[in-house]
Amino acid sequence: GKTTLLAPSALSADFTNLKASIELAENAGADWMHCDVMDGVFVPNITFGPFIIQAIKKCTSMVIDTHLMITDPDRYIEDFVKAGSDQVTVHLEACPHLHRTIQFIKSLGAKAGVSINPATPVSLLEPVLADLDLVLLMSVNPGFGGQKFIPGAIKKITQLDAMRKELNPELVIAVDGGVTEENCAEVIAAGADALIAGTAFFKAADPVKAAKKLKGLE
Ligand code: DX5
Ligand code: ZN
Repeated sequence: GKTTLLAPSALSADFTNLKASIELAENAGADWMHCDVMDGVFVPNITFGPFIIQAIKKCTSMVIDTHLMITDPDRYIEDFVKAGSDQVTVHLEACPHLHRTIQFIKSLGAKAGVSINPATPVSLLEPVLADLDLVLLMSVNPGFGGQKFIPGAIKKITQLDAMRKELNPELVIAVDGGVTEENCAEVIAAGADALIAGTAFFKAADPVKAAKKLKGLE
């Protein structure tokens, strides 16, 4: 079958040598660089904004996959696209006018993604599914790297996989949070196309080997 896309999360990179971390990911065969943007309001943590994404973009030809964990993302989407984001993912829980937000992302020339928290049902995505390039299913409560995978996420991947067959076969299903070399096979089997991996990639004893495992190549 096709290989799984791997998206290391910059959150777990070495920020004293960000360029080396990004090159490590790219050389290990990673497909996307996942950039976790947190505002301290939508989630209980603060990370970075467009300025850092611009720096990351300069270091790599990987797809820049920006995950906005921020309130009222419409205010900043354009800045994140201008900074070099190829894909912009917003949270359903943060968007009262989700359809409009998705169209806005696409109007700027970026791919549009929507993420849902562990407590949000997959069924809420139905009205917008046909418009989306990707769905980012959270398998932890967003805010921090290094958390434990919530087992209930597996059922949600299966549900979304069934839903897309009818509404949007091209949709990419990405899974974010607590993905490891131990559980990745189950996540892929359930229907995931892309795995986000912070800890499992950057904190691995051998990140190149970890990448192969996570991509289902070993
Ligand atoms: C969590 C972030 C994730 C996180 C993943 O809020 O959205 O992308 O960095 O890190 P791990 O793989 O360590 O759970
Ligand atoms: Zn993320």
